[in-house]
Amino acid sequence: MAEMRSSERRVAVCPGSFDPLTVGHVDLVRRAAVIFDRVVVAILVNDEKTPLLTKDERVALAREVFASVPAVEVDTFDGLLVDYVARRGAIAIVRGVRSAADLEYEWPMRLMNHHLRPSIDTVFLPTAAALGHVSSRLVKEVWRLGGEIGDLVPPVVEARLRALRGDPTPAR
Ligand code: PNS
Repeated sequence: MAEMRSSERRVAVCPGSFDPLTVGHVDLVRRAAVIFDRVVVAILVNDEKTPLLTKDERVALAREVFASVPAVEVDTFDGLLVDYVARRGAIAIVRGVRSAADLEYEWPMRLMNHHLRPSIDTVFLPTAAALGHVSSRLVKEVWRLGGEIGDLVPPVVEARLRALRGDPTPAR
């Protein structure tokens, strides 16, 4: 785990399953990195759901995607999110919101997290309009049914998913 430098005052945690990481996640994390000094992409492990990609694959892919953004770090967490956020010395949880339906899903989590740790706030960032259709769930569905996902996930993620499906990676 990286040490927090004294100049890094405003650390945010961007939690999620990232199964897989999408272009929506990338946009969200990059925008959060403009607002905060440091953004920790925190990948949930030991979820009840069986992930498509292993924890190690998700970590490796996210690290590759964000390698060029020094303010972004990739880590894993399990247990209560707010406990992890507190351990990291972060002040906020960042979540992307595509729609009113997303906000309905996020709202009770925000309230519960605030109940558990009032000092940690949740910051909702509206998803870029052009990415409103992008979700890990739909990407997996399109992928399973043999659809094109090149515009929906970063190239390294596309390559991994193609390999899982046994497809050759197209030349770009
Ligand atoms: O990418 P996802 O699956 O929408 O992310 C959901 C996530 C990881 C943010 C959520 O499941 C979570 O915070 N899990 C940690 C468990 C927890 O702290 N639960 C109680 C407070 S709601």
